[in-house]
Amino acid sequence: MSDCRPIPVILDGDPGHDDAIAWTLARASSRLRILAVTSCCGNQTIEKTTYNALRVCTLIGLDAPVAKGCPHPLMGPVMNAPSVHGESGLDGPALPEPDRALSKLSAVELMAQVLRASDEPVTIVATGPETNVAALLLAHPELKEKIARISVMGGGISHGNWTPAAEFNILVDPEAAQIVFSSGIPILMAGLDVTEQALILPEDFTRIRALGSHVSSIVSQWLEFFYIFHRSIGYAGAPMHDPCAVLALTDPDLFRTERMSVRIETAGQYCRGMTVGDRTGRPGSVPNAEVLLGLDRAAFADRLVDAMRFYGEVAQ
Ligand code: RIB
Ligand code: CA
Repeated sequence: MSDCRPIPVILDGDPGHDDAIAWTLARASSRLRILAVTSCCGNQTIEKTTYNALRVCTLIGLDAPVAKGCPHPLMGPVMNAPSVHGESGLDGPALPEPDRALSKLSAVELMAQVLRASDEPVTIVATGPETNVAALLLAHPELKEKIARISVMGGGISHGNWTPAAEFNILVDPEAAQIVFSSGIPILMAGLDVTEQALILPEDFTRIRALGSHVSSIVSQWLEFFYIFHRSIGYAGAPMHDPCAVLALTDPDLFRTERMSVRIETAGQYCRGMTVGDRTGRPGSVPNAEVLLGLDRAAFADRLVDAMRFYGEVAQ
C-alpha cells in the first residue's frame, strides 16, 4: 500500500488552546483523514471541553462526529487548568456557536464504531489525559489491532510541568496512561522534552495574523492568550505542546526521536504521573515508545504558519 494515502485519525483532546491549534493543523493537512473527534476532561470540565470541541470543529469546518468523553479520570480526582486556559477552557476570541449536534454515542463507543468500520488501522491523536483511550482499551480489547498507533502529547523524560516530575496530561490520569503505554500499541510520545522547544514566538503570531483569514486571526489570538501564562513563567513564546502530536504524523522530518522504554509512575508521594524513560535496555525496560526529543524550531514555526494558509490568505 502506498504511503501517500491519508492517515485515518481520531482526535481526542481537552480544548484547550493548544488542542484547538493542533486540530486546526490536522484539519488543514491532506496527510490526515479525521474520522472522529472526542473530548476529554483535563484543561477544563468535560462539559466545557466538549462545548469547546464543538465550537472549534464549527470554526474550522471539520466534518466529523464529535462525542463527549469520560467525565473524570479512571481513579484520581478531576484536575483542571483554568490558570492556563481560562474559565471556559478556551478563553480569548469569540467563537461560533456549534453548527452540529453532539454524537449520541459516548467517546468510547464512537471510537469503537469508527475502529470497527475502518478498512485499515486508525491512529489516535491524544492531546489530553488518556482517560478515553484507556477506557476504550478496557471496554473493547478486541479492537486493539485496529489501532495503528497512538500519538500522545504527554509526559516528559527530563522533567514535568505540573509537578517537578509529572506533566499535566499524565498527572491527571496516570492509571490511564499506564494502560495505554503498556498496551503494546505503538506509541509516539511528544513530551515536554520536545514541546517546550516548539515555541511559537510573538513574531510568528504576527505572521499568522497577517494571512488575513478569520481562522488565522482566531489562531493568532489563541496564541496570544496562551502566551500570557507562559510569558509570566519565563517562556520566550507559546509552547505548542499538542500541535507536536499532530506534526509528528504529518511532518516527522521536523523531529529527532529515540526509541525507549517509558513506564508510568502511578504511586509515589512526589513522582505520581512521572514518565520514566529508560534507554539502557536493562531487564524489564522493554522499548515501547518512540519519544520525540528534539526539533528545528524555526522550521516548526514555518510549517505551522504555512498550514494556516489552508484557511485562506489575503494578498499582501
Ligand atoms: O502539559 C501540556 C498539556 O496539558 C497540553 O495538552 C495542554 O493542552 C494541557 O492539556
Ligand atoms: Ca491538551
